[in-house]
Amino acid sequence: PNVSLTDNFGRPITYLRLAVTDRCNLRCFYCMPEEGIKFLPKKELLSYEEMERLVRVTCEMGIKKVRITGGEPFARKDMIFFLERLRKIPTLEELHITTNGVLTKAYIDKLKEINISSVNLSLDTLNQERFLKITRRDQLPSVLATFNELLKANIPVKINMVVMDGKNTEDIIPMAEFGKDKPISIRYIEEMPFNGSGSFKTQLLWDHTAILNQLKVAYPGIVKTQDPNHSTAYHYQIPGFKGNIGIIAAYTRTFCGSCNRIRVTSLGTLKTCLYDHGALDIKSLMRNGASDRQLSLAIASAIGKRHKNGWQAEASRDQGQHHESMSTIGG
Ligand code: GTP
Ligand code: 5AD
Ligand code: SF4
Repeated sequence: PNVSLTDNFGRPITYLRLAVTDRCNLRCFYCMPEEGIKFLPKKELLSYEEMERLVRVTCEMGIKKVRITGGEPFARKDMIFFLERLRKIPTLEELHITTNGVLTKAYIDKLKEINISSVNLSLDTLNQERFLKITRRDQLPSVLATFNELLKANIPVKINMVVMDGKNTEDIIPMAEFGKDKPISIRYIEEMPFNGSGSFKTQLLWDHTAILNQLKVAYPGIVKTQDPNHSTAYHYQIPGFKGNIGIIAAYTRTFCGSCNRIRVTSLGTLKTCLYDHGALDIKSLMRNGASDRQLSLAIASAIGKRHKNGWQAEASRDQGQHHESMSTIGG
């Protein structure tokens, strides 16, 4: 059916980000503290059956693209079978995943088989020592092995590099060089205040302009190219490079005007904005026996109460200090 789901300001909602677990095998310091966060007991997570139902219902409502996030999706047992099942939903057009790549290599054949639309790989540095400092785990070789296999399998890859002052700014150019002869996208991301501890320096030294300036020094010929609709990144091309560059102004820019996304956290909470504190408790609804119709009415009603500018309405709370970890929200 040709359904369309729009919010109260006429913005089409076509993209669902589903966080399948809050657990992770890395401890990136911009996402969670060393000791981890208070991980949810398994019964608090949506089950695979519940998530499959949620995806089916929202696709019937007009969602076309689903991105699986976490935590680390592959840290949850049997994730690959869940992806296989999702792929059988006929109304789901695109299925993407964001992963840290530590465990992913073992599943690449299967990902290819189910025709995964793309894989976004979190990789903040190509230097083993800095990788250990940032993620607190010595796993760079496994991530690189995953990357190489993804390329071999011809699966579209985007590398996500969070740029952090004093941590990995010396990696900006080596990372661009890494993409020179590969058909991939390298995306530099501004750090956002979701490190699970509520302490974040509000002044951001490496915003998208600083990142771009650094690239311009090394590559004076770098040109701006067109951004696809609803893209989080500003796109650039370096002459002679096979791939492209993206800069995601995740902190200094708001995407609200054309935001087509909703999120479901690992707790089963619907967020109609990255910055809201939960618009609907989907898990309780499901566990209290809601029918598909009741479920979609409740979701549509929450979407109908979306903020025009959620960032403005919510982000300035607590002077920008967020206590949530990105690992619970899924980014
Ligand atoms: P695609 O456009 O589907 O490739 O997804 P994406 O780039 O949004 O997804 P990904 O999971 O790779 O996230 C990249 C970065 O964008 C992460 O740092 C996310 O936290 C950030 N991000 C995703 N959505 C939003 C958003 O709505 N607002 C802001 N400020 N940042 C976002
Ligand atoms: N700021 C910006 N990006 C972040 N990510 C995780 N935490 C943060 C943060 N505090 C990124 C990860 C992953 C994506 C989903 O979000 O690196 O690639
Ligand atoms: Fe894990 Fe991703 Fe958070 Fe790093 S940013 S700790 S890889 S969930």
